[in-house]
Amino acid sequence: MSAYDDLTRALPGAPRTWLVTGVAGFIGSHLLETLLRLDQRVVGLDNFSTGHQRNLDEVCAQVTPAQWARFTMRHGDVCALDDCRVAVAGVDYVLHQAALGSVPRSIEDPVATHASNITGFLHLLVAARDAGVRQVVYAASSSTYGDHPGLPKVEDAIGRPMSPYALTKLVDELYAEVFARTYGTRAIGLRYFNVFGPRQDPQGAYAAVIPAWTAALLRGDTVWVNGDGETSRDFCYVANVVQANLLAATTEDPAAINQVYNIALGDRTTLTDLYAAIRDALVPHRPTLTGRLPAYREFRAGDVRHSQADIGKARRLLGYAPTHRVAEGIAAAMDWYRSRLSGVASA
Ligand SMILES: NC(=O)c1ccc[n+]([C@@H]2O[C@H](COP(=O)([O-])OP(=O)(O)OC[C@H]3O[C@@H](n4cnc5c(N)ncnc54)[C@H](O)[C@@H]3O)[C@@H](O)[C@H]2O)c1
Repeated sequence: MSAYDDLTRALPGAPRTWLVTGVAGFIGSHLLETLLRLDQRVVGLDNFSTGHQRNLDEVCAQVTPAQWARFTMRHGDVCALDDCRVAVAGVDYVLHQAALGSVPRSIEDPVATHASNITGFLHLLVAARDAGVRQVVYAASSSTYGDHPGLPKVEDAIGRPMSPYALTKLVDELYAEVFARTYGTRAIGLRYFNVFGPRQDPQGAYAAVIPAWTAALLRGDTVWVNGDGETSRDFCYVANVVQANLLAATTEDPAAINQVYNIALGDRTTLTDLYAAIRDALVPHRPTLTGRLPAYREFRAGDVRHSQADIGKARRLLGYAPTHRVAEGIAAAMDWYRSRLSGVASA
């Protein structure tokens, strides 16, 4: 029996109030769905800059009316301290996901990324401190490893940030640490490694690789690989990330609090292998994709070459035990993309 099984059995008997920032986004909407299924009360905060009402509508359709009634949506911006103060009132746990993701976006507009990712996080910490929130869990990032060459990545060996986005996530960790030291607040950072799954946005210039490639394949467009295809990542299905958030929020182990953790699988998949896995998962439904090859172009600025997590610390201190391998996650994600992108022309 895993620590997460124990937790999900205990939670419905002891409903708490959770604030999920970035609730209309990809990861935030999965946190919302799981918490509502566990009969928790949830407050959501989002400015819909990259999130969508359709993600909330989808969660609504997945839970019972009684569960949905426990959700309060607050349209607001973490860049406004008052919006954070209103959102945290009466909240036990904060799961902070609101941020502008994407390395290229941060290179194009470092000011906007700074505002949401650093100023927004600072506001959230201040509001949570003043409201007496029990624990803040925040989305950190594997990009914090920067140019450190070590593999697999261990939490205390980081390099220099390689993009404005990476810098913002490092600063968030430093803020959380300083707040703990200065004000005695409790925060846990989860360094996500390339999360994927249903509801991850396939649209736009800053789409992540799995949704972007899937949409391109379903449209019959060229799939572009940045670099030679040997770049590798530790792709992590979103259910594993949800598990880590709930375990981190509720831990009472003093050794586990005010730490950062890698949240991934501990595996490495090259872009070439990832492309083949996505294509092959679609082939039964789109036979014309059989054997289709991607096109290659130059490496992208700010990208690290290899990424793979050591997840030993999260296993040890949080009881994290990922339930979904990459192949299972790809299968679940492809089902979702096929059903949602069914309007696109057949490849
Ligand atoms: N998806 C990944 O692979 C990954 C990897 C590492 C870290 N992260 C981090 O995880 C978190 C969630 O990412 P995601 O993939 O779900 O992205 P997402 O873009 O789908 O979700 C982010 C949400 O935050 C909201 N938001 C952005 N700025 C805001 C602001 N100023 N005020 C209020 N809401 C705001 C957006 O509207 C969106 O709904 C982010 O902090 C991201 O940096 C994600």
